Amino acid sequence: MFSKLLYPLLVLVTADFAVSSAQGEATSVDSNKAPIFYKPVHTVRLADDSISPRAAALDFSASQWIWTNEVSVPGGTAPVGTRAFRKDFTAPLGKTPVQADIIITVDNGLTMFVNGAEVGTGGNFTVAERFCFPLQPCLNVFAVTATNAGGPAGILATILITYTDGTTSTIVSDTTWRYFLTVPDGYEQLSYDDNSWTPAVAEGPYGVAPWGQISIPSSAPALALSDVSWIWTSEVVNGAAPAGARAFRKTYTPPTGHTATLAKIIITADNEYTLYVNGVLVGSGSTWPVAQTYTVDLSPASNVVFAVYAVNAAGPAGLLAAIEITLSECSCSSGVIVYTDAGWKSYIGTPYGFQLAGYDDSSWPTATVEGPEGMPPWGSITVSSSSGPVTAVSGAPAGQKNETAV
Ligand SMILES: *[C@@H]1O[C@H](CO)[C@@H](O)[C@H](O)[C@H]1NC(C)=O
Ligand SMILES: *[C@@H]1O[C@H](CO)[C@@H](O)[C@H](O)[C@H]1NC(C)=O
Repeated sequence: MFSKLLYPLLVLVTADFAVSSAQGEATSVDSNKAPIFYKPVHTVRLADDSISPRAAALDFSASQWIWTNEVSVPGGTAPVGTRAFRKDFTAPLGKTPVQADIIITVDNGLTMFVNGAEVGTGGNFTVAERFCFPLQPCLNVFAVTATNAGGPAGILATILITYTDGTTSTIVSDTTWRYFLTVPDGYEQLSYDDNSWTPAVAEGPYGVAPWGQISIPSSAPALALSDVSWIWTSEVVNGAAPAGARAFRKTYTPPTGHTATLAKIIITADNEYTLYVNGVLVGSGSTWPVAQTYTVDLSPASNVVFAVYAVNAAGPAGLLAAIEITLSECSCSSGVIVYTDAGWKSYIGTPYGFQLAGYDDSSWPTATVEGPEGMPPWGSITVSSSSGPVTAVSGAPAGQKNETAV
């Protein structure tokens, strides 16, 4: 799966090239990372390459703290509130982006999106968040919902883009990012037009007061249930739901140019679940304080459907799952993360064939979010690395034959 990144050592180019993207933004292409074939046809040495780190290291050395025009003095007090920021990225001619390795921090909190998909959140600005996310072949957009809780406000970010030929370039937070003083609906989507937005205001380079040094984690966080939402149907009233079996579904579609190869799933339900991936029964469990872990080979799929037959015996009812999906081409150390949330579909009942990939759930309502992992009555959930038995709980469908099983 990494074959495109492992080029034979035929031509080793050691210089750094600076190229100009379709939007006229400076991008440095670092060729030290992997030997490449390089025809320096499109290279233009830019007068100011200060925004382009020479090495492909993921650090903040070339990044600026940025915010809106509400800061009168760099690093000074800004109004309390939430602001929207965007950075469009068009790949240089002849380059196909594969993935973005992102380090970002916001004084005081952030939600990060790539091409409309949420990639993660952060709430402690002294420690950077680290994300890795697959990119689309041409245009990509990075969007940040940034909140200031008081005092100084700022965003600091570095995004390392890896291309199919193994070369990289770096995007840093600077005045080419744009902001809006409210958070418009759908502003994180690729299709959103930010032409009327204002260029961000620079507050100074990394290291500047009052922020100083920011620690950078060495890898993206491991898949976990912390802060993941318990979901159920709309039937939950005062923490209780009627007894019976309910159906849940979530469809994940990889970005253009990628297929899904592997899914790691951590799952539990109060009281029982049976899990299906693309119609195949993967396993079941009936001990809600202990979540089970599954690793499923997807042989690669252009669409992944997770379906759950969940049974409530009485009282509280909930489904909790965290899923990490590995994509082809991507060499991210972590996959795309899918959590149980209001983006799942739920059904009061278990219609025939609901577990199959081709089932049409378009008329199903979305799931109801009950609250984050750790909430009462469940408290903290233990994650077991073992999977449950590959059998259906009583009443659940058997599932399709696993065509790839030997
Ligand atoms: C932020 O993280 C640092 C380093 O891990 C820690 O010392 C500090 O207590 C954290 N701050 C908050 C508000 O959680
Ligand atoms: C199907 O079987 C293969 C081979 O045993 C396994 O790797 C894969 O995870 C299974 N797929 C599902 C959906 O259970």
